[in-house]
Amino acid sequence: MKILITGGAGYIASHTNIELLKEGHELVLVDNFCNSVYESVKRVEAISGNKLKFYEVDLLNINDLESVFEKEQNIDAVIHFAALKAVGESVEKPLNYYENNISGSLNLYKCMKKYNVVNFVFSSSATVYGDPEESPVKEDARIGATNPYGHTKVMMEQILLDAADAYNWNVVILRYFNPAGAHESGKIGEDPEYPANLLPFVSQVAAGIRKKVVVFGDDWDTIDGTGVRDYIHIVDLAKAHVKAIDKLSNSKGTFIYNIGTGRGYSVLEMIKAFGKACGHEVPYEVGPRRSGDIAEVLADPTKANSELGWKAEYGLEDMVNSAWKWQSMNPKGYRE
Ligand code: NAD
Ligand code: WQD
Repeated sequence: MKILITGGAGYIASHTNIELLKEGHELVLVDNFCNSVYESVKRVEAISGNKLKFYEVDLLNINDLESVFEKEQNIDAVIHFAALKAVGESVEKPLNYYENNISGSLNLYKCMKKYNVVNFVFSSSATVYGDPEESPVKEDARIGATNPYGHTKVMMEQILLDAADAYNWNVVILRYFNPAGAHESGKIGEDPEYPANLLPFVSQVAAGIRKKVVVFGDDWDTIDGTGVRDYIHIVDLAKAHVKAIDKLSNSKGTFIYNIGTGRGYSVLEMIKAFGKACGHEVPYEVGPRRSGDIAEVLADPTKANSELGWKAEYGLEDMVNSAWKWQSMNPKGYRE
């Protein structure tokens, strides 16, 4: 298939692009580099041995976006990664988040309609479940995000489902749990200037870039008092997109899947595992709870296992080892 990838230079897209290229798909990448650099695209080209079509376009500029659809023609499917994704920042700058994520998506949906593109994969998130009543959480659980970033995901899902109904689009919504780790080559990975998520933070502490990890509370009702999450290896997550594209080529309708392992790890377990990967203990101290945090959330991935034929294959060791390989091979990320 010829697939348009929005946010094509980002963390999850880079890994997904490699898996899609392995399956022979043709990719057209769009990104405005608000949270990425062109180097990631070059590295994907080097790893995969493919030259990639790339457009530096902001989804907020509908004319530029439309010119990509016009020039490329015959796009069979879109995978929509482009979004702002930092929960804390979304609380401080909600309007930026609504504008970028909602208006950007609306522009994309309008272009799809105009150019008759009917197959779509959407990057959603466990954040749409907020603080779920049950964990592991199933796809039909109550939706209830608790921050502006999460609200944008809930809204984008809803707009998409309404558009799919009206225009007969085929849609796969993937609700990712906690993506972690990096490609086995050590050449691509997550490259945040200031890490908002646990593993990249632990990784920078392990590398000596930051002094210590602050554990956000050890008085949660969990195995050791620290928060428990369902970490999913980035390559497993990437492969879920290949399965989603397969699904669109042989089924019609709208489908929602949790992408996680169903297995949780606490913050302390993650820090300890990382210590093993890097060969020394990672310093940490226990601080107060982070506002808006929850004790535990795990995916029930049964539906993705049975309907998509997808299952997570990598474990915790692979996640921390690959994250450390990426960190130690690229101490300054892509920005060297
Ligand atoms: P990322 O920031 O690495 O990638 C997103 C890419 O989109 C970046 O390259 C950025 O420059 C680009 N982008 C953002 N706004 C744009 C715009 N207006 N026009 C063009 N490009 C734009 O993030 P990621 O971790 O790869 O996340 C990809 C998707 O997955 C996002 O939609 C995110 O919300 C979702 N998601 C991420 C996580 C996570 O923890 N990483 C978890 C659940 C869902
Ligand atoms: C994991 C655990 C923290 C940092 C967020 C978004 C979610 C999704 C994934 C996009 C928690 C603890 C963290 C630190 C810590 N993103 N922690 N010290 O909060 O589960 O999910 O990213 O869609 O929407 O909300 O991930 O990595 O921030 O936290 O103790 O310095 O690590 O309290 O228990 P979270 P996280």
